[in-house]
Amino acid sequence: FRLPDIDNEPMLNYAPGSTERRLLQEALAELRATIAANGPFDIPAVVSGQAIRSGDVAAQASPFEHKLKLCTFHNATPTTIQDAIDKALKAKPAWEAMPFNDRAAIFLKAADLLSTKYRYKMLAATMLGQGKNAWQAEIDAAAELADFWRFNCKYAADIYADQPPRNSRLTWNRVEYRALEGFVVAFSPFNFTAIGGNLASAPALMGNVVLWKPSPMSMYSNYLVYEILREAGLPEGVIQFVPGDAQLVTEHTFSHPEFAGLHFTGSTAVFKHLWRKIGENLDVYKSYPRIVGETGGKNMHFIHESADVRNAVNQTIRSAFEYNGQKCSACSRVYLPENLAEEFTTILKEEHAKLKQGPVDDFTNFTSAVINKQSYDKIKGFIDDVKTGKNPSTGILLGGNTSDEEGYFIEPTVLITKDPKSPTMINELFGPVVTIYVYPRDEFLETLKLADSTSSYALTGAIFSQDRQALITAATALRNAAGNLYINDKSTGAIVGQQPFGGGRASGTNDKAGSALNLLRWVSPRTIKETF
Ligand code: SER
Repeated sequence: FRLPDIDNEPMLNYAPGSTERRLLQEALAELRATIAANGPFDIPAVVSGQAIRSGDVAAQASPFEHKLKLCTFHNATPTTIQDAIDKALKAKPAWEAMPFNDRAAIFLKAADLLSTKYRYKMLAATMLGQGKNAWQAEIDAAAELADFWRFNCKYAADIYADQPPRNSRLTWNRVEYRALEGFVVAFSPFNFTAIGGNLASAPALMGNVVLWKPSPMSMYSNYLVYEILREAGLPEGVIQFVPGDAQLVTEHTFSHPEFAGLHFTGSTAVFKHLWRKIGENLDVYKSYPRIVGETGGKNMHFIHESADVRNAVNQTIRSAFEYNGQKCSACSRVYLPENLAEEFTTILKEEHAKLKQGPVDDFTNFTSAVINKQSYDKIKGFIDDVKTGKNPSTGILLGGNTSDEEGYFIEPTVLITKDPKSPTMINELFGPVVTIYVYPRDEFLETLKLADSTSSYALTGAIFSQDRQALITAATALRNAAGNLYINDKSTGAIVGQQPFGGGRASGTNDKAGSALNLLRWVSPRTIKETF
């Protein structure tokens, strides 16, 4: 395969006065004006090119501005889901038979359309719809999505090229990387527009057909992703766009004999529930379904007494508060040695005071609102427990204010606890709250063991130290505590093609998004031996 050179999409910086900033501001204004003039966009289910409006509608509102309704969308009915499966299976033989170069061309074209024609529109949709600031939207809905599409083509080409290294005389051995028999279901989350695009397109690139159920909270940006794929030439039926009630979609897809796999990112509880449902139906299926999931996290920054404190503070602020703490990789617990506690908290206070919060179209805002009422209530509940003494071992160091008048605002909040197993050290809050536990400096090893055993999750983690031996000790003690380990850097911000992303334990199946490992889950190899 002769693919073009693949590199990361260059990120734009939106500096004050730059053309990029002006164009993005224009795109935001245009999106607001269109909605003001015509009302929210009306998004159908799309089955093999046919828009289906069931009339069972729900809406997506902006998290930071309750009044701004971006879209209404039509939930798929059982008939639509069934139809989507039937038609996807009909589209499959031609799609699977299409030469890889042609399949790849569609995703490479989609990446180019995104990075040129649709970049600002996609950013505006992600900013207003999901509450990301310009830079957080750029790394997600422009860079990461284009990177997934392009790098997956490279990884797929490598997979197809991988053949048994030996033949004996008068034989030819080869491996054919078939698509799975049946259809794949993709369930995607609100927090990364790119993840939705990847969950649906990674299996499709390998010749599969996919039913994609996007999150209701990112419906508008996800629909734009889908439209880009169609404009890039994705044949109808290869990915069916099926918004809908999760229960209903699972009921009607998981009970089908041709169900071949689940590609999921979301909460641990939902993933376990789905896995059980799949287990219940095992006798119904033709094949054992592939189950690939990336779920929750309770990610730590572990600081050693030799750390560069300013760097540790800055990385902690970025990891805990960028995108309002709603990355599955976000830091939410910090282990801080007592000899650095004063310096760390002093710098943290200075830096925290600079964080501005508000609507994302004001580019000076670092954070905005959390995604919805359910999330707001949950996070506020944990903060209130600290305020009212229900979590007596923990106090508020910084922040702690909340307001849901205009949108779901939770101030970036730093808690400090005496109990390393207190509620906010253990539970995933999925919001801008980080808890610090100060440990005795001579208990480095014991605290590493404690940190490892505190959480059931193992997604990301970071260690901060300038002492090589301490780094080795920490990396060894935390060997299974994170699928992505960062040294002297924040626990967020994996880049496709550079840091394959995923975690183990309760954080997922660790099939690394944006890697050959992930794509291999979407093929069923056939070995052929031919004797001459
Ligand atoms: N891949 C993202 C990160 O590394 C999280 O999904 O931050």
